Amino acid sequence: MMRAKITGTGAAVPEKVLTNFDLEKIIDTSDEWIVSRTGIRERRIASEGEFTSTFATQAAERAMAMAGVTADQIDLIVLATITGDYPWPATACIVQSNIKAVNAVAFDVSAACSGFVYALTIADRFIRSGGAKKALVIGAEVLTRIMDYTDRNTCLLFGDGAGAVVVEAVEGEIGIYDSLIKSDGNYVDLLYQPGYGNRYPGAKAKAGDHLAYLNMQGNEIFKLAVRNMGEAATNVLEMNGLQESELSLLIPHQANKRIIDAIAKRLSLPEEKVYINLERFGNTSAASIPIALDEANRANKIAKGDLIMFVAFGGGLTWGAVPVRW
Ligand code: UT7
Repeated sequence: MMRAKITGTGAAVPEKVLTNFDLEKIIDTSDEWIVSRTGIRERRIASEGEFTSTFATQAAERAMAMAGVTADQIDLIVLATITGDYPWPATACIVQSNIKAVNAVAFDVSAACSGFVYALTIADRFIRSGGAKKALVIGAEVLTRIMDYTDRNTCLLFGDGAGAVVVEAVEGEIGIYDSLIKSDGNYVDLLYQPGYGNRYPGAKAKAGDHLAYLNMQGNEIFKLAVRNMGEAATNVLEMNGLQESELSLLIPHQANKRIIDAIAKRLSLPEEKVYINLERFGNTSAASIPIALDEANRANKIAKGDLIMFVAFGGGLTWGAVPVRW
């Protein structure tokens, strides 16, 4: 049976760091509050002249170098983002041009913080059905440009960056085991950016207008994130006859340390089996899992044959879980 195997990982983040102490100077907050409520200490922010495609391209090049795959061999690019370079066309097409992946079909996926899990699922299904052999799956965001730096409920949470993986068709039992992705459109306005779509076009959503920025009802999202990620993770394991105790590493979406701890508890996973790097990057939405995966991979925290799992939750609402035999 044809399976999709992750053969290379890469990440790229901006140089510029925004610490909790920097935020203390612009909003009514404290490092102590942010660390205790979220686990975040600092996040990266893009500078002028740096775009979502800038980091996506670098991450993709690093993943291809690790996989030993050249750009002309890539036949599919799926890029997850909610902060593309333009409303359209797809940032995936900009990356395709940058890396010269002349033989690829390229498109974006909009599933907010679950974007990477959605994009990986799409690539997996292309590969299983014979529609692609070598795919690039990218999660990339420049979220700091849709932050309202007068809103202390949101601006401290998010950061910029990109992560990418090369996924290749292989024969056998290794690779992406299965995936479970879900959505519920009844909660669109719990986490969204109202402005710049055609309900509130540019003119109505000028800078300074709250519509222009990411809006979130944090408390509600928190509860739904814990419940839905927990359920997706347990269900996808059960569907495949896998036990939670077989997991070597859980790489969750990096939104809030307390959300991650609650999921780890539900899966009875000890601290050392859960990868967390949000203290350094904050929530990078679709980029958070592939950035964490690349760090874990390059630090040799994943061995051949290990069962790892990605789990994510985000606006839409969207959520999902993907177990992978490394
Ligand atoms: O990526 C996918 C989705 N995103 C998430 O999963 C994020 C989910 N939500 C969260 O992570 C949390 O809800 C937040 C971190 C956003 C907020 O944490 P919370 O524990 O839910 O805090 P809260 O909103 O209930 O606020 C608690 C208190 C309030 O004061 P009172 O009413 O108890 O006096 C807030 O006014 O903390 C206050 N507060 C702050 N204080 C200092 C809220 N924001 C801040 C702040 N600094 N930045």
